[in-house]
Amino acid sequence: MNPVQTSHALSLVKRSRRLRRSPGIRAFVRETRLSSEQFLYPLFVCEGQKVRRDVPSMPGVFQLSVDEAVKETEAARAEGVPGVLLFGIPAHKDDIGSSAYDNDAPVQAAVRAIKRNVPDTVVVTDVCLCEYTSHGHCGILEGHDVANDATVEQLVRAALSHAAAGADIVAPSDMMDGRVGAIRRALDERGFEQVAIMSYAAKYCSAFYGPFREAAESAPKFGDRRTHQMDPGNVEEALREVEQDIEEGADIVMVKPAMPYLDVVTRVKERFGYPTAAYQVSGEYSMIKAASANGWLDEPRAMMEALTSIARAGADIIITYYARDAARALRAASQ
Ligand code: PBG
Repeated sequence: MNPVQTSHALSLVKRSRRLRRSPGIRAFVRETRLSSEQFLYPLFVCEGQKVRRDVPSMPGVFQLSVDEAVKETEAARAEGVPGVLLFGIPAHKDDIGSSAYDNDAPVQAAVRAIKRNVPDTVVVTDVCLCEYTSHGHCGILEGHDVANDATVEQLVRAALSHAAAGADIVAPSDMMDGRVGAIRRALDERGFEQVAIMSYAAKYCSAFYGPFREAAESAPKFGDRRTHQMDPGNVEEALREVEQDIEEGADIVMVKPAMPYLDVVTRVKERFGYPTAAYQVSGEYSMIKAASANGWLDEPRAMMEALTSIARAGADIIITYYARDAARALRAASQ
């Protein structure tokens, strides 16, 4: 026996590092396996033809006309991304957001075109008024406040027009009370009982939506969204919101943003055992992009680590602007 070695050897029964010694062993004991089947890819659809307009605050993200949105969806499908989440940038905005339920507006046209050209895509539509109102608020205003019940009526109209265009899932992101139940009833009455609802159930009032508001041209012209979006300090309230949406008929519940709220994702998943989505929002994406552009982060690694953490927290579905990049990275790693 080598006396030098013995004098340094601890008598440890458990050595965690045994299972970290090689890529093969690490893969055997990996607990969270990210798959491109979990990704839902947000797209911003605008008017026009052959439009592919950069969003400066979100490098790699574009405002796309319907024809370009179809191409982007085809590319994403080919890379293994199952679905898209559509946001609309209408030509016309007014104080009641009437373009939200215009059958010829970008989202409705994109749903039809994607269903025609890439039929196996899961098409999800964001249901909110903020992209459609001239004041940028998520609903109809009464003074400076968003009027809940009048807004719900508008959201129902939007959801119905998305369903009529062929959406598989409608996703109300407005945080009005009672909108899930109202949308469920209206869908059922019109024969859309197969259209599912993914509710933005616990949506926080977050600074991390900043870049999205540039992409979707939806920043409020005054004030903020604190009277309907949740206070970042609350988690019991998030569980009540989720419970209420499930009671009203939500099929999938979402927590948003994702990384600053991973504890909420875990609690929601553990408490309800429901299909749970988490939205890695624009600010989460742009932070990684900006730091990587400066050489401060290794983008591919930061991307995969962030997405893995969201899956590990309990999300079944991950909504991410990185969907295509991450799907390609997963495919490359498995080859
Ligand atoms: C509202 C909506 C928002 C996002 C998705 N749906 C923004 C908001 O509340 O202002 C944010 C998504 C992101 O930041 O990536 N329609």
